[in-house]
Amino acid sequence: MSKAKFITFEGVDGAGKSTHLEWFADALRQRGINLLMTREPGGTPLGERLREILLNEPMHAETEALLMFAARREHVAQVIRPALQQGIWVISDRFSDASFAYQGGGRGVALTKLEQLEQWVHGDLQPDLTLLFDIPVEVARQRLANNISLDRFEQEQGSFFEKVRQAYLARSQKTPDRFAVIHAEKTRDEVQKSLEKIIASI
Ligand code: TYD
Repeated sequence: MSKAKFITFEGVDGAGKSTHLEWFADALRQRGINLLMTREPGGTPLGERLREILLNEPMHAETEALLMFAARREHVAQVIRPALQQGIWVISDRFSDASFAYQGGGRGVALTKLEQLEQWVHGDLQPDLTLLFDIPVEVARQRLANNISLDRFEQEQGSFFEKVRQAYLARSQKTPDRFAVIHAEKTRDEVQKSLEKIIASI
């Protein structure tokens, strides 16, 4: 049996990654793959409590980074590693690239500090594949405009999301082999075609 894979979905809010994630997971299941879907911040009972705080409570940018990685530590220990060890694939809606994009790019937390946290929390574990849903910020903002309630991140200005987007792209250029950049402003069908190609190559 081939090794279970760890796949993450990333992108600015409004890129449509959650919809595509459902479709992608179904397509893998249809190929007989046993998988688990999870998310960050969250994925464990403690992580979900931290998510509530992170999405609603104002805090210092470094506190935000530390809490993201604290939730992640629990997620790696309780969910991600045990599943992979049992041969179950893990698909996570966000992982550490989001901390580099939002806390690093968006909030300006030093990359060296984030790299230390990353090393500490999952130094020997990286996603096998990361799907980055890239989209012009104005388009993502228009998609969010229909949402009734926006969390602390979604309420940020366009300039914040521009920095997040650029930090994601910079991160994808650092380890291009791990990333598949998806042009998320395309139609749903076109995006699904790109996802099909990716699945065929896994
Ligand atoms: P998300 O699950 O995309 O929100 P939604 O349920 O509204 O689709 O992510 C929640 C927010 O958390 C998102 O705005 C990005 C932010 N986030 C960070 O800032 N840093 C991180 O490390 C992670 C995992 C998420």
